[in-house]
Amino acid sequence: MSSVMVTGVGELVTLDPAHGHGLGVVTDAAVVLEDSVVAWTGPAAGAPAADEAVDVGGRAVIPGFVDSHSHLVFAGDRAAEFAARMAGTPYDGGGIATTVAATRGASDEQLEANLLRLLGEMRRQGTTTVEVKSGYGLTVADEARALALARRLTPETTFLGAHVVPPEYADDPAGYVDLVTGPMLEACAPHARWIDVFCERGAFDADQARAILEAGSAAGLGGRLHANQLGPGPGVRLACELGLTAVDHCTYLDDADVEALASSGTVATLLPGVEFSTRSPYPDARGLIDAGVRVALASDCNPGSCFTSSMPLCVALGVREMRMTPDEALTAATLGGAAALRRDDVGHLRPGSRGGLVVLEAPSYLHLAYRPGVPLVSQVL
Ligand code: NIG
Ligand code: FE
Repeated sequence: MSSVMVTGVGELVTLDPAHGHGLGVVTDAAVVLEDSVVAWTGPAAGAPAADEAVDVGGRAVIPGFVDSHSHLVFAGDRAAEFAARMAGTPYDGGGIATTVAATRGASDEQLEANLLRLLGEMRRQGTTTVEVKSGYGLTVADEARALALARRLTPETTFLGAHVVPPEYADDPAGYVDLVTGPMLEACAPHARWIDVFCERGAFDADQARAILEAGSAAGLGGRLHANQLGPGPGVRLACELGLTAVDHCTYLDDADVEALASSGTVATLLPGVEFSTRSPYPDARGLIDAGVRVALASDCNPGSCFTSSMPLCVALGVREMRMTPDEALTAATLGGAAALRRDDVGHLRPGSRGGLVVLEAPSYLHLAYRPGVPLVSQVL
């Protein structure tokens, strides 16, 4: 066993109730890691001995971000679609078919290289745990290969065969649901931890989503849902009724949706990069938090609705555009993401934490929202 002491931490965000509520901030702090797992945190003056020491020179240290929603296995990009959107064409998910065609035509090596590039980009911005979805293959073989590629790089893989109905099934959506719940699920389940459905007008309705989620659950997968992104709908209430771990987007909610979220404990994952990149109204994070809903922030990094991999950007948007406090936004991007993945070993710096430390090029975590667009991650340990 080898131990490392990280010293000279001007401000340490532990999210450990042992260090007080909220962020559990300790100033002039140290962290001791044993074989990369947090063994001790607290004021530097009381730190136990360690084999080696790393001095971070007064910088702030936070837990690695937990990005609980991304779509990184794809080929091509849709920059022209983005430019058209900025000129007034609304986002309706129709561009997904463009990425499906490019992804089907790409080699495993191309898909893996793109995935590695994006994961590297995320890590340099402080993300140490990431969920990756399939959903741009939409055949048995293409969905299974996307998940097999992703599974080598993260345990948090999600089968999203129910992203949209692919063009070859346009006249037979029920046949496509049978494929997803039958042979596709069978081929994908060994490489996935989760199953997800895009429950929205133009994609899958509530009955289809229920059937797909139930089949996934019977195959041992946890459920999550894309819902209420493009307009109001039944998805959020379905997610709560089924007791899913998380329901994502939550942009268009009514009072009954908020109440269902608050009483079910299903995590509402907000993806403000999508609203930024589609020029849409932001979800009401303030209202959700005040109603007692557990929220997470995630990137939704994908080539269509939101091609950012930056959790610091999501934190800044949460604070500036969704009226979260900086503490709420950082909590949602770490502990909230961990809750959305049912993980208790990441998203904090408590003894036993495996989620890594992020050293900021700043004296305080407040700079994440205060200095938007600035590369603030100096080191990921
Ligand atoms: O989370 N909403 C569905 N899926 C993605 C967008 C996919 C795309 O446009 O390629 C999302 O926003
Ligand atoms: Fe998504």
